[in-house]
Amino acid sequence: MHTIYLDYNATTPMRPELLEAVRSYSGLEGDFGNPSSLHTAGQRARAALERAREQVAGFLGASDVSEIVFTSGGTEADNLAIQGAAFAHRDAGRHIITSSVEHSAVMKTCRFLETQHGFEVTYLPVDRFGRVSPEDLRKALRRDTVLVSLMAANNEIGTVEPLMELGAVCRERGVLFHSDAVQAAGRLPIDVKTWPVDMLAVSGHKIYAPKGIGALWLRRGTRLQALQYGGSHEKNRRAGTENVAGAAALGLACELAGKELEGEVKMLRTLRDRLEQGILARIPLTSVNGHPTERLCNTTHIAFECVEGESLLLALDQAGFSLRRPELPGICVSTGSACSAGLLEPSHVLSAIGVPPERLHGCVRFSLGHYNTQQDVDQVLEIMPPIVEKLRSLSPLWDEKRRGARSAG
Ligand SMILES: Cc1ncc(COP(=O)(O)O)c(C=O)c1O
Repeated sequence: MHTIYLDYNATTPMRPELLEAVRSYSGLEGDFGNPSSLHTAGQRARAALERAREQVAGFLGASDVSEIVFTSGGTEADNLAIQGAAFAHRDAGRHIITSSVEHSAVMKTCRFLETQHGFEVTYLPVDRFGRVSPEDLRKALRRDTVLVSLMAANNEIGTVEPLMELGAVCRERGVLFHSDAVQAAGRLPIDVKTWPVDMLAVSGHKIYAPKGIGALWLRRGTRLQALQYGGSHEKNRRAGTENVAGAAALGLACELAGKELEGEVKMLRTLRDRLEQGILARIPLTSVNGHPTERLCNTTHIAFECVEGESLLLALDQAGFSLRRPELPGICVSTGSACSAGLLEPSHVLSAIGVPPERLHGCVRFSLGHYNTQQDVDQVLEIMPPIVEKLRSLSPLWDEKRRGARSAG
């Protein structure tokens, strides 16, 4: 039985084109050397690392390859940007601005600086679509603000932030601006030459590279305090022997993502819209969270009234069992961020956009990717309605709602 995977915002499979890169910088027969070694094996690994740096720089539009720092992923890139910049500039001030819908990699890093290092953090509110207002940002800036960190696109609801306007406000006031672009990469064009940002984080496993590799782009001249101590790797910005195989795969993934972006965005948007419209048309009492147009091309986050999101997730995962049709594929979706899965609290993103309590627990995120087909979408549209109906038939809330509707009618 196959699986229909609709959780690409949680992670993506590695593209087969990258397997060769990983193999050739890992095994005995390949260039497995330490890039800091002076012998040929080391220098070949160094060449691979620098080639990967060029590919990542090219993908992001960076003018200088030395602006790329390889990290272990998006979380480390965000930590390095936020803590690194905060510590390097602490003498100039201790105020940081972020938003109330950031990923925990940003949110908890800011909280750490607040609770352990005497920084003050402003968490900007968002509108009902999840967007930060440039005017709110302008009002929140203070003389002692040293850093603003706002994501490019939200991992849960897919809303794309007005980064050009937000960055312009930071530029006017000369404040450093970091953006978590982990979900934006490969799903919308990124160009740090024209974007008013100073630091930008990306992660390999969201763009078909392996888990455990990522990068921080750092505009030349941006001061940063390193967070870990050791060798002078990555120009003293990130100590530790580099993950050459991971970097080579990330480089190639970036090159492919850059080349294919236009077609990929069109394909994903078509499939996503087909799925979204199909669900809204076939299943009553459903609605979409997130911005109607300023949204990642692959993401739809849907509220199903009178259904528990977690129950729906599990029922879809076991669709064959749920509908007593063992031939059906399982469907992988999520109720929010993979990093907060298992928590019973409602998502901070949904709370921030003001999703009413009756919808808060019945939301599911569908995030599509490179390997999805129209057939996948059509199968999901066939499987979902009876599953939702079945779950609703067991819900006292649904019963109440129907009785209410009858007596009102
Ligand atoms: C917006 C965002 N930032 C950061 C991260 C963390 O990236 P990583 O899993 O590579 O540490 C994620 C992962 O879900 C994310 O969606």
